[in-house]
Amino acid sequence: MSENSAFPSHNLVFPGEVFPNPADFDRGIRQLLRKYDEMLEILVRCIPANVDRILELGCGTGELSLKLLNRFPTAQITAVDYAPRMLQYAQEKIRLAGYAEKWIAKEADFGEWANNSQTANIGSEFDACVSSLAIHHLTDEMKLKLFQQIRKSLNPGGVFWNADPILPESELMKAVYQTAREEWAIEQGSTLAQIRSQVGQSVPYGYSSPDQLATLDIQLQMLKKSGFDGVAVPWKYYNLAVFGGN
Ligand SMILES: C[S@@+](CC[C@H](N)C(=O)[O-])C[C@H]1O[C@@H](n2cnc3c(N)ncnc32)[C@H](O)[C@@H]1O
Repeated sequence: MSENSAFPSHNLVFPGEVFPNPADFDRGIRQLLRKYDEMLEILVRCIPANVDRILELGCGTGELSLKLLNRFPTAQITAVDYAPRMLQYAQEKIRLAGYAEKWIAKEADFGEWANNSQTANIGSEFDACVSSLAIHHLTDEMKLKLFQQIRKSLNPGGVFWNADPILPESELMKAVYQTAREEWAIEQGSTLAQIRSQVGQSVPYGYSSPDQLATLDIQLQMLKKSGFDGVAVPWKYYNLAVFGGN
């Protein structure tokens, strides 16, 4: 994996990396998102027990990969991320957990893969595709293309589950979601502004930009248009949702 030379400045991050140092991510994301673990755990519960090949898009520091492997220790995960330092951090975590043979890192932009399935030799015939806190960095046009590419890359009966922030449904809901986040920061003895001050500055990179949120309704329609059946929302907490289908 190459050095993250595109962003030499200490505070700049790729969209989605969140923190300049990957070592800060696991603690920092839980400070930002009260139900981070619950969200990932519900997503994992939506994967069928006989899963063999899993594709993860935007694996970050490997927290979702680890939860998947703990539940499905014989599965094989292909983990895609465009940020070399996130992939390196995840790889070491997965190795220390004893799953090195079960986890393949692919440094690639999943937007490029949406346009061309040959990109980065990611492969196909997956039993499940998963993603958390990553796809919302694509434009809506690219989200739809990605959902279509995922559908084509799944085996019959394969599933796709995504955990992502959504665009608030109204100004009222936007205020409610914001207040909930502020209260979570205060419960931790901090403020949202203080916690957010640790977040790096991100500028567009590849196909991703800082948040490109879409409503949950629009994304459910995109899934149906892409050929998914059984489209469902097994979990929602304020502006975060787990959604997908088969
Ligand atoms: C907020 S992190 C979430 C990581 C992990 N899924 C989790 O829930 O802890 C989002 C990850 O998506 C990656 N990412 C964002 N856009 C991407 C793209 N277009 N292609 C590949 N990776 C991308 C970022 O580098 C980052 O590691």
